[in-house]
Amino acid sequence: MWSSTLPLLALLGSTLALPQPKISSIRRPGWRPNRRQLPTDSVDTSSSSPTTTAPKTNIWQFLTNDEAADVISFLHSKEDLNLTAVDDAGDWDNTIMVVDLLPPNKTDALNFLDGEGDKPERWALASLLFGATEEPYAQDWVVGPIPITNDSMYYPYTFGTHAPEAKIRVYDMDGH
Ligand SMILES: *[C@@H]1O[C@H](CO)[C@@H](O)[C@H](O)[C@H]1NC(C)=O
Ligand SMILES: *[C@@H]1O[C@H](CO)[C@@H](O)[C@H](O)[C@H]1NC(C)=O
Ligand SMILES: *[C@@H]1O[C@H](CO)[C@@H](O)[C@H](O)[C@H]1NC(C)=O
Repeated sequence: MWSSTLPLLALLGSTLALPQPKISSIRRPGWRPNRRQLPTDSVDTSSSSPTTTAPKTNIWQFLTNDEAADVISFLHSKEDLNLTAVDDAGDWDNTIMVVDLLPPNKTDALNFLDGEGDKPERWALASLLFGATEEPYAQDWVVGPIPITNDSMYYPYTFGTHAPEAKIRVYDMDGH
């Protein structure tokens, strides 16, 4: 059973008809990997905005363009994911649909905000579409810590769901 807590489901929204998951058209022409919830680049307050000093860093700050690019190039370097850049991809390739911040775990966040805990690491959640297979599916992957180093990892996102692999079958990749 696919859990309704999978973030991808929020993205796909009403195009899914449970209990038989069906995604009619989850990519549109020109759709690039992007950060969710971020309509413009106006959140870059580093240069022009008046500054205030927050007592703690905002640990829920969306991924910056550099962070998102770092994650995308890291995933593209992984041969097992067999990713194709979105610009070059057809329906039957593996692509990155969305890269988003994976919010820090609550205990880590509270230790930092209320206590003396270290600032939580930055992690990303990447929604991948695996089209280069007989049975196409979408799957969220955890990537981090960011910035990417040799210690950074990538693995399927499962802890928000009850599904062992959290894959969502995509039945009609070429149906649009
Ligand atoms: C990698 O993806 C391409 C299509 O983008 C596909 O033709 C190829 O078979 C895939 N390779 C593997 C090992 O899955
Ligand atoms: C958050 O908690 C989950 C479940 O305990 C764990 O698997 C995951 O690695 C944690 N994420 C981070 C970024 O620490
Ligand atoms: C990461 O690994 C590469 C190749 O294994 C190495 O050349 C590079 O120095 C390493 N970078 C860091 C920061 O350890």
